[in-house]
Amino acid sequence: MSQLKVGLAGLGTVGVAVVQMLERQAAEIEARTGRSVKVVAVSARSKGKDRGIDLSGVRWHDDPVALARDPDIDVFVELMGGDGDPAKAAVAAALAAGRPVVTANKALLAHHGVELAQVGEASNATLHFEAAVAGGIPIVKTLREALGGNRIERVSGILNGTCNYILTRMADEKIAFDACLADAQRLGYAEADPTFDIDGFDTAHKLALLTSLAFGTKVDADAIYVEGIRSLTLADLEAADELGFKVKLLGVAVRTEEGIEQRVHPTMVPKHWPIAQVSGVTNAVAVNGDAVNLTLVGPGAGGAATASAVVGDLIDVARGNGGFAFGLPVAALQPAQRAPMQRHEGGYYIR
Ligand code: NDP
Ligand code: HSE
Repeated sequence: MSQLKVGLAGLGTVGVAVVQMLERQAAEIEARTGRSVKVVAVSARSKGKDRGIDLSGVRWHDDPVALARDPDIDVFVELMGGDGDPAKAAVAAALAAGRPVVTANKALLAHHGVELAQVGEASNATLHFEAAVAGGIPIVKTLREALGGNRIERVSGILNGTCNYILTRMADEKIAFDACLADAQRLGYAEADPTFDIDGFDTAHKLALLTSLAFGTKVDADAIYVEGIRSLTLADLEAADELGFKVKLLGVAVRTEEGIEQRVHPTMVPKHWPIAQVSGVTNAVAVNGDAVNLTLVGPGAGGAATASAVVGDLIDVARGNGGFAFGLPVAALQPAQRAPMQRHEGGYYIR
């Protein structure tokens, strides 16, 4: 049986969960793909750290870019995070060498996704990023493949588990913002720099990817209006509750006559709407197409949920499933237009 040799950069919350899932599900994955998917080389910052996983027999690289260029790996998995180097250089190096890449790094793709997809197209190397949006919810493949025949009018939802966890606990348990954030960090939901979560940028990174997949535009995080949840207080959530609303941080991309309007902001959602009942780290993504309307709900962050998406991408690589990263060749993606914010259906915008 042939082996798919994995080079894994990043052994934190998600990286460790990926190693554990590949071990736990080894027989099932072999049965599904006809190949054994095995981590053969890794990189992280601290070599000596006890990570609770057995890495005996696995090669260590101090430099993730050297790992990406290791001729004895078949696929490079980037789980370090950060929108610059070494993540960017490592992903580019693997793609340039003709090696498929799997990443969960939405910040990197929101800023450099088009450029990296182009590197992959030039060397026929595929770029997979299911884990980058909404954790365990398979929304990337849903938009790129399953709904590829639809004309999409709107994509929207709760895209950040940390914020939804904070807002839920503040509203339901009256626990202060800072304590909720500390718990989200302890549980492995938050970004290394949690300001990305609470100031809305992580949601914007994910929305930028969904917009590209849904509307065939170039990924452009700078075209998004962004406002986070940092300034919300227990009193704000109590007032919303008395008026019959839950407050949710929503990302919304909607087709308008002036282009694709993209926005991220806290929103007052009527309590009886299904999205108001999405609580804790759970995410929800609603897609309105001309043929199909659907909402996917599931775990939006955390090691196990995110590893599920990464391993799903590795199974695609093992099977030789590929295609264009954003559903179209980069040359066919349209420039992202910056439509002014004009419509606030789907809840009430709080300024
Ligand atoms: P962690 O901070 O837990 O882990 C990051 C890992 O990368 C660590 O092992 C760290 O090494 C390593 N690393 C960081 N910088 C470098 C560097 N310069 N060189 C080599 N190794 C480095 O992050 P997560 O696992 O939470 O997240 C990883 C990625 O997955 C990020 O892109 C994140 O946005 C994304 N993601 C995370 C989710 C989550 O729920 N946590 C969900 C979806 C996506 P060391 O351990 O030695 O410090
Ligand atoms: N920090 C992110 C979140 C991780 O809380 O949603 C999942 O992308």
